[in-house]
Amino acid sequence: MPKYPKINYIGNKSKLVDWILSNMPIKKGVVLDLFAGGCSVSYALKKQGYTVLSNDCLYSNYVLSKALIENSREILKVEDIFNIKISQKDSDQEYMKISKFLTNKLYYDFEVKELAKLIKISEKLDDYKKYLFLALIRRAMIRKLPYSRMNVPWEQIKKLRDEDYSYNKYKRRRAYHNQSFESLIMADLQNYNESIFDNNQKNKSFHKDSFDFIKQFKGRVDIIYMDPPYPKTMNKYGDFYGIYDKIFGKEIDYINLSKNEMFLNNLIDLTKLCLNKTRYIVISLNNKTNPSVEELNSVMKNFGQTKVIQKSHQYKLTNKENKNTTIEQLLILKVKR
Ligand SMILES: C[S@@+](CC[C@H](N)C(=O)[O-])C[C@H]1O[C@@H](n2cnc3c(N)ncnc32)[C@H](O)[C@@H]1O
Repeated sequence: MPKYPKINYIGNKSKLVDWILSNMPIKKGVVLDLFAGGCSVSYALKKQGYTVLSNDCLYSNYVLSKALIENSREILKVEDIFNIKISQKDSDQEYMKISKFLTNKLYYDFEVKELAKLIKISEKLDDYKKYLFLALIRRAMIRKLPYSRMNVPWEQIKKLRDEDYSYNKYKRRRAYHNQSFESLIMADLQNYNESIFDNNQKNKSFHKDSFDFIKQFKGRVDIIYMDPPYPKTMNKYGDFYGIYDKIFGKEIDYINLSKNEMFLNNLIDLTKLCLNKTRYIVISLNNKTNPSVEELNSVMKNFGQTKVIQKSHQYKLTNKENKNTTIEQLLILKVKR
């Protein structure tokens, strides 16, 4: 049975996918996951047999989607990677490019040199093998960083990567922060390969701003699932992961939805664009999000028949022992014809 691999995406829905899927208004068809993030929902939809279109504005998420959602059979072998020879000159050139924003900012100099070589290797891989390798590079980059994100100040990174300090303070050495990229990639290779499967549908990945995607989309789907970055949550996805996109020169412009005062208007505008492209819109939110489900529901009612489903859920906060209980909510809109 294929299993969603270790991704570690902030704000992911991996613990809630069974509940989300059991509440999908129709049990087969085409679903667009418009803010796919770490692809936990896209992956569960694929497993359930839906045709999945999976979109996110970050390239780091697009590579996950290409590797896990669109890819149906290609796996990556150790020899695919390490039979590739990279010249010192190419490696040095890449290092010069990326060291400006990585050395002593996210990683030590010798680590950036290793990363440069791996990036050059990725360029020589074909199609889905390349995306699998890029997804593994992403995972290794995140694994080396305290708090699993790219916007932690260097002084703090250094401190938290000191295993004795970490042990004294948190009773955990977190030695994986100090492993090489290569050893972290090797540790996850099987896990990623085993997650690849074919659901006999033509699933597809996109790297677009959600508004642009909908405006340009000529087809129709059965469900559009939205899990946007809500205001006042851990929502700075560009800061958390954007450096990856920068390394590969794949940054795109996108609308910053999470700006507090604009969020509801933006979501309404986006919904309006979706109305003639789908039968249903399913929106994830919870009792801590702003706007509340009641506010959102009162607007969505204008576009068709709505239903709200709720469930209590405990989030384990990273690096903290305490848990946070939330009421998870799904707003389901059946679009008026
Ligand atoms: C809450 S996360 C989605 C988490 C996802 N459901 C999962 O399980 O991993 C929200 C996502 O929206 C993406 N995003 C933010 N603004 C966007 C925009 N304007 N267009 C497309 N994606 C956007 C972020 O990159 C982030 O991955």
